[in-house]
Amino acid sequence: MAYVTKKSAEEIAILAEGGRILSEALKAIRERAVPGSGTEDLEMFARAELAKRGAEPSFLNYRPSGEREGYPGAICISINEEIVHGLSVPNRVLRKGDLVSLDFGAKYKGLFTDMAVTFYLGRPPQSVRRLIAATRQALRRAVKTVRPGAYLGDIGRTIERHATRYGFGIVRDLTGHGVGYAVHESPRVPNYDDPSLSDILLEPGMCLAIEPMLTMGDHRIKTRPDGWTIVAADGNLSAHAEVTVVVTERGRKVITPFID
Ligand code: MF3
Ligand code: CO
Repeated sequence: MAYVTKKSAEEIAILAEGGRILSEALKAIRERAVPGSGTEDLEMFARAELAKRGAEPSFLNYRPSGEREGYPGAICISINEEIVHGLSVPNRVLRKGDLVSLDFGAKYKGLFTDMAVTFYLGRPPQSVRRLIAATRQALRRAVKTVRPGAYLGDIGRTIERHATRYGFGIVRDLTGHGVGYAVHESPRVPNYDDPSLSDILLEPGMCLAIEPMLTMGDHRIKTRPDGWTIVAADGNLSAHAEVTVVVTERGRKVITPFID
């Protein structure tokens, strides 16, 4: 069974401070991301936004298990059919009509937080508006299931039910995860109903990154030849939203405040 670490009250106070910093930084980056913004400019801006608040980028040089090299950026910028881990590339510029996801992680006083937001540049078509809204709402509903005595499996079941109601697909090969002492910790937090998680009890001090990835097509993904960028195999649009949450005595605390 998955072992899930528990953070102390002192550690949770640091995580909350780091989460506030991460959220503020991501909000500033999100506001800078407009038609004409260069992805490399956003990357440099992202680094500076953390540095000026005393935090470090946690994705930069991070090597997910199974990878041979570390991630080359501080922030993942994924556009349109790209789902996650998109790279900033020289001369790559955001355009009106792009669906943009920013995924950002911080290390603050030795502890890790993680969050993501997806938004549209311009006035979104109705279908895209629904995709973004359903993804954000799935995340909010999943977060509300988190409390001592609830089960880990409640998170994915809630997300799946919500996505299915809207008719959206769910990425299955990428999941949320434990977080805090590392970028990724046990347990996996899938975005679908996984009966093997139904008996893992949530307890105060557990810290989770919950991150639904919904698609306009099906669940299949592939990795681009750059080795990082994960796209929908069918080329459809997708949206991603993520927060870091800690289980408290009374319920939960979102330690990376939501941004739109
Ligand atoms: N937030 C990302 C995730 O949970 C972490 C990015 S890992 C990186 O998967 F190596 F791609 F940066
Ligand atoms: Co994550």
